[in-house]
Parts: sequence; C-alpha cells; structure tokens
Amino acid sequence: MTDTITLRRPDDWHVHLRDGAMLEAVASFTAKQFGRAIVMPNLSPPVTSAASAAAYRDRIIAALPAGSDFTPLMTCYLTDDADADDIAAGHAAGIFTAAKLYPANATTNSAHGVTDVAHIMPVLERMQAIGMPLLVHGEVTDGDIDIFDREAVFIERVMKGLIAALPDLKIVFEHITTEQAVHFVDSCGPNVAATITPHHLHINRNAMFTGGMRPHAYCLPVAKREMHRLALRKAATSGSPKYFLGTDSAPHEIHAKESACGCAGIFNAPYALESYAVVFDEEGALDRLEGFASLHGPQFYGLPVNETMVSLERSGTAVPDAIESAGSKLVPFHAGAQLNWRFLSS
Ligand code: DOR
Ligand code: ZN
Repeated sequence: MTDTITLRRPDDWHVHLRDGAMLEAVASFTAKQFGRAIVMPNLSPPVTSAASAAAYRDRIIAALPAGSDFTPLMTCYLTDDADADDIAAGHAAGIFTAAKLYPANATTNSAHGVTDVAHIMPVLERMQAIGMPLLVHGEVTDGDIDIFDREAVFIERVMKGLIAALPDLKIVFEHITTEQAVHFVDSCGPNVAATITPHHLHINRNAMFTGGMRPHAYCLPVAKREMHRLALRKAATSGSPKYFLGTDSAPHEIHAKESACGCAGIFNAPYALESYAVVFDEEGALDRLEGFASLHGPQFYGLPVNETMVSLERSGTAVPDAIESAGSKLVPFHAGAQLNWRFLSS
C-alpha cells in the first residue's frame, strides 16, 4: 500500500479568492497547497478590464503570507459589452490568462453576465485567434428548466453551437457535474477540457438533505444524482489530459450560508488536496493524481509545470467544524470529518 505520495506542486484552475477581509482570510489556504490558481472575477463590481485585473492581482499578492510561492492567474468577467481590444491587450500583457463566461444570473455576482452568447461573438472570435481560453459556467438560467437539468440543457442549447461556430477556441467547461458533460467533453477535440471539484467527486445531491437542509453542501452547479458523481470520478481518475483540478472553493461567511436564502458555494481550499487524494485512493488511482492535479492543467493552458514538489502521507487529518481567519468564520468542506490523507507541504 502506498503511504506517501510526492507530486509536482499542483495548481488550482478555478478558485474564488474574493476581496477585502475575505481575501485576507482565505488567500493563505490556496497559496499553501497550490503554485498557481485561476482566480475567478465575480467580485462586486466584477473584474471586466485589464486595469481592474492588474489592481486585483496586486491586492491578492499583498494578502499572501510572507514567503509564499504562489502566482494568481487573472481572468476577465465577460459582459454583453466586453471589449475585445482591452481583453486582447490584457492577454498580450500577461494580465489576463483567460476570460470567464457567466450566463447572466447563473450564480453569485453574475447579474452582469452574458445574456446571449451571440452578443460576444466578436470577442470570442478574437480569443480563438489569439489562443486565449474561454472558461464557461455551463448552466442555462431559465426558471422553467429544472435546476438539476441546467447543465445538460446548456450543452444542447449553447455549448454545441459554440463549438460548431468556433471549432478552435480553447474552452474549459468549469466544475462539471454530469455524465452528459463528461460525454460531451470526451467527444470534443483537445481544445475542450473540464475542471472537476473535490465536492462533486465526494457528494451527490442527497448531501444537501441528509437529516435536514444542509446549506454547506449547496453550490452551483448543484450536486447531481449518484450516477453523475460516479461518472465524474471515472473521468477525473481516467488519466485523460482533458480533466484537471479546479476546486471552485467559494467561501461565504457562516451567516450567509446558514440563512433563509443561503449563498451557493463550498469552501474547500484548506483541505483541497487531501480531499482529492481520498478520491483517487478510493478509486485505486493514486498514480494518476499528479496528472490531474499538476500536469494536465499546465498542458492545456500552455504553461510550464511547477518545479517544486509536495507530498501527502496516509495519516489522519481532522477537519475542524469551522475556521476562524482574519475576522471571518467559515465552515470548510468535510467539516468535522476525518480525512485519511495529510498534506505535508513542499
Ligand atoms: O457555488 C458557487 N459559488 N458557484 C459559483 O458558480 C459561484 C460561487 C461563488 O462565487 O460563490
Ligand atoms: Zn466558481
């Protein structure tokens, strides 16, 4: 039995670091485990220009503990009025790594998102031409579509047309949650990939209702049926370079989660790597963890892999019920549970 695993330092290809006091509270958790992270732009107001992304990057770097070896990779929040010239210039200047498509009102701070992909076709054509990845929150937002079907319907209504119109655009289908998304990504060329969160590998939709309503298991896209969780586990551990690590760690203060209208988001950054290691171990695929966590993402984004290494050992990690950090009280994923892998650091 493997008791210690050593892998290249992983990257988180999808994280919410927030701003202000919450950024101060959470930045160190991501910086401890990951070399780089794709930072989501859904601040209020959103990060829609290269200038605002550069300023946000500075605030992230200022919030890191001294001596951190962590690089935030910035993204542009696309709106109906997105400016192709500013986005292309930001990409050329090394400020924007990618751009994020939030369908309007799909999730937290997405009110300024795109109302119809047709509105941003000139921007997407430009991104295709310069090789800039499009990161997609893949859910339709129509109230008449069942919330558990929103990803599958998005594939039919939006993704297929997008790929037909822009066959060379690099697309990351973010935080996939369904068997349909796995089949879709598998059916596309190497320019289409997906991130998979730890929580969608661990929980199915029952987790939101076990013995009562469980707001800390609520995120978007919501967890689906068990068959979908199993399809995600198979994809993540398959060794396919199309799948890589993206935690979608999305912290909200405890009172904003435990509320009559609780926010969507699971805060998994503190034990992210341990959480993935448990899944890969259960699937008998520990030898594939490094590909998923540290190699496939850089390969897709055309970036070098990290030079330093991290290790995990098979031993207990007790996850606390809550984490108090820089004035925020946050409930982490796996709160109160014991994980049988421990992050040993670099
Ligand atoms: O659960 C989620 N939380 N899903 C998202 O897409 C956004 C995120 C957030 O920003 O809180
Ligand atoms: Zn997200």
